[in-house]
Amino acid sequence: MVHLIILSLIAHVYSLCSMTQHCPNPPYDCDVPIKVDPPIPPWHANFTPPYACPMFLGQTVCCNNDQNSNMNYKYFLLDETFGHSIGGCDICAANMKYLWCHFSCNQLQSQFVSTGEQKYVPNPVEPSQMQLVLLMNFTVTNSLACQIYESCQKCPYVTQVSAMQSPQGFLQFQGYESIPIGFVWTTFIFDDSPQALDLEFLPCQTNVTTAYGYEIVPCSCNSCLSQCQASYYAADPSTLEGIDWPLVGIVYLVIFVISTVVLFGKFTWDKHKKKKLKNDAHLDPAEILLIHNGK
Ligand SMILES: *[C@@H]1O[C@H](CO)[C@@H](O)[C@H](O)[C@H]1NC(C)=O
Ligand SMILES: *[C@@H]1O[C@H](CO)[C@@H](O)[C@H](O)[C@H]1NC(C)=O
Repeated sequence: MVHLIILSLIAHVYSLCSMTQHCPNPPYDCDVPIKVDPPIPPWHANFTPPYACPMFLGQTVCCNNDQNSNMNYKYFLLDETFGHSIGGCDICAANMKYLWCHFSCNQLQSQFVSTGEQKYVPNPVEPSQMQLVLLMNFTVTNSLACQIYESCQKCPYVTQVSAMQSPQGFLQFQGYESIPIGFVWTTFIFDDSPQALDLEFLPCQTNVTTAYGYEIVPCSCNSCLSQCQASYYAADPSTLEGIDWPLVGIVYLVIFVISTVVLFGKFTWDKHKKKKLKNDAHLDPAEILLIHNGK
């Protein structure tokens, strides 16, 4: 908290954006994000509702309206992966959105998001396929990692994937998942320096109907645990070595296909997207999956 206040005071000096993304045909059809070099000052963005990041409305930000649309789509997937519809916790999903909003929109982005090169890496959904991604490091505090992990720990998806059984593993997994969905490979760096992003998250069992401007269904699961043990902290940045990638890939594929089908159903009824609908309506979910993967 003290970090945030100090950072706010000196924000006018250090506010810079390190990354951006454009979408030829939002919300799905987006280019690989690009490094902004040298970093540029944040701006006042004119977002088209719905707002993916309501907590940033009216502020100078590092995200544009294309990213707003694209985040809405990704956040729908987050709800379907972590939220109450599959017996999870909406606050976990809201916390994830809050985190990614800071990643994309926070005017101090360049302090904790460092962008590297674009590179072809195996697509987690289909490892034989190579996907061009932007490599990024996202520096967050241990406390942030611990809090978000606690809020998501008992969600069904999290308990099923061994790679997600620690705060560090959980976040690295989210960063890895963004390869097929966001065309970025985000590596989390855990660091308690003032430059690291530090956020306070709501615990999963908080009895509220909105969080950070998102509507949520309060957690009714006994599944919300708030136990954070010191042993979760790792001194070094955790790595993805030793993870059972084929298993992770299969779990991820299942979630992704289900989400895609649900998403397709949702948008079929979305009257505001009539034009987009006409293009998609004759495709089956497998083809849509390919489109989402940028093929
Ligand atoms: C990310 O961090 C690693 C380890 O500290 C470093 O080797 C790499 O160059 C960094 N990449 C970017 C894009 O900053
Ligand atoms: C949650 O809050 C609502 C309204 O504030 C209240 O009616 C309800 O009893 C609370 N539920 C629990 C489990 O505390």
